[in-house]
Amino acid sequence: MLLFDSHAHYYDERFGNDAERRAVLDKIRRAGVTHVLNAGTNPDTSRQALKLAEENEGFYASVGLHPEDLFSLPDPEAALAEIEALAAHPKAVAIGEIGLDYHWHGEERAFQKEWFARQLALADRLGLPVIVHDREAHGDCLETVCRFPQVKGVFHSFSGSRETAAQLVRRGWYISFSGVITFKNAARLAEILPVVPEDRLLIETDCPYLTPHPYRGQRNDSSYLILTAERAAALRGVSPEALCDQTAANAAALFLGGKAALSDGPGKAALP
Ligand code: NI
Repeated sequence: MLLFDSHAHYYDERFGNDAERRAVLDKIRRAGVTHVLNAGTNPDTSRQALKLAEENEGFYASVGLHPEDLFSLPDPEAALAEIEALAAHPKAVAIGEIGLDYHWHGEERAFQKEWFARQLALADRLGLPVIVHDREAHGDCLETVCRFPQVKGVFHSFSGSRETAAQLVRRGWYISFSGVITFKNAARLAEILPVVPEDRLLIETDCPYLTPHPYRGQRNDSSYLILTAERAAALRGVSPEALCDQTAANAAALFLGGKAALSDGPGKAALP
């Protein structure tokens, strides 16, 4: 069985020093996790995500400027140039995470939209998929990605409406669900998840955040991804094994399809 965590942040300081992080990565291997994509949020974390990808079989990275991080960058222009340089790394498989966050920065929408659009344009130019962070900005996120019809990607930890999901699917996009679907107040997502076509569905932890029930509040890691997979499988009426294999194949199709050079041993070889 394949288990592809399509969105993680193992460089986060909550995973401790190198030895402590190594212990967590050993633990997730023992739990059957075969693939992990670490999403960068600025040049520094994007570099760290790439380092993890270099050191660990089956690990990949995305590089990008997260909407929250934009506000602490001394020079966004220079940061974007750095992201473009990092995107040339063979294990940089997407631009992300990029997007809009109106929960924390609802007053500065034009600034966020400008940098979201510029990174979609970069992905378009480089032929890479994108990973979108959409927090309380569903309409503007959809409107912005629609301006780049060539660009495909995923809305991570999806929180939008059924109509938004349907529009994204029609445009060739993927929808990723996190541990939020295991929470008791996730009734709306529980209605959307079963109607996403099987070849457009991804699962993720977003660790160290969004730990599934019943561990909510503790530090998350990819060993808990199976809880999200089991909930998704139950909602769709399939076996957890089938759901894990399908979502791993989908992640490979979205992120690894364009990079033939990514044959790094069993990780890649095991993928359909
Ligand atoms: Ni994230």
